[in-house]
Amino acid sequence: MDNIYIVANWKMNGDNIFNRDLLSLIERNSIVSDSSHMIVCPPMPYLHQVNNQKSSYMMLGAQDISQYDNGAYTGETSGTMLADLNIEYVIIGHSERRELYNEDNSVIKDKFSKAIENNIKPILCIGETIEHRNSGQTFDYIHAQIDAIISNNKLDNLKDLIIAYEPIWAIGTGQTATPEIAEEVHAYIRNILLNTDSNLAANTPILYGGSVNSENAEKLFRMENINGALIGGASLKADEFSKIYNIAGELTNE
Ligand code: 13P
Repeated sequence: MDNIYIVANWKMNGDNIFNRDLLSLIERNSIVSDSSHMIVCPPMPYLHQVNNQKSSYMMLGAQDISQYDNGAYTGETSGTMLADLNIEYVIIGHSERRELYNEDNSVIKDKFSKAIENNIKPILCIGETIEHRNSGQTFDYIHAQIDAIISNNKLDNLKDLIIAYEPIWAIGTGQTATPEIAEEVHAYIRNILLNTDSNLAANTPILYGGSVNSENAEKLFRMENINGALIGGASLKADEFSKIYNIAGELTNE
């Protein structure tokens, strides 16, 4: 296995002391691997702290980016601000942003553009609701979410793309998609990329997210088209998160 990406989405959790302790425990428990890449995405107010306190092998990501450049947008954080803080990655279109803050594919397309303009690598989240799945609309829905980005960007804009497939019914529910269910969608996503460009298909990491833990990670990572995980709950537990990272490291060395 080539490269695996382990991304921590802390969501709206943490504080100065919790973050410091979590980072130092992760550092203590993790076996650093060149081909297993760790990205930590704390809440905005703690980006600076995590940037200062993280180990050099950990990369830093934000959880969101504004679709605007600057101005009267209270509470928003622009791409230039994230670039100013040396943020390397940004999560775009997380289902919680789509569902709770009404971000549709058009807004997400604009946010994607701001990430690219500021040289921040996008982690594009997609995924269906249980209603889509039960009514047989999963693939159409996923297709529309990806197409909103692919059809509006030239290939050069997609060179650092990471896709995270997060079925909404599996997020925070403890109900992980089985490796087979996840792989079916990942293979479908790979095929969409292939229809655009073979290098894009070969080079785009497709991560799985939704109740990933140290028990289910290995089986997921062994699937052909699963290149890592976007992790919520388990990323707040140092031992769990390090275990998942170490599993990824072992698999890349096989
Ligand atoms: P959980 O790992 O808590 O299910 O969250 C997944 C997620 O939404 C990561 O972005």
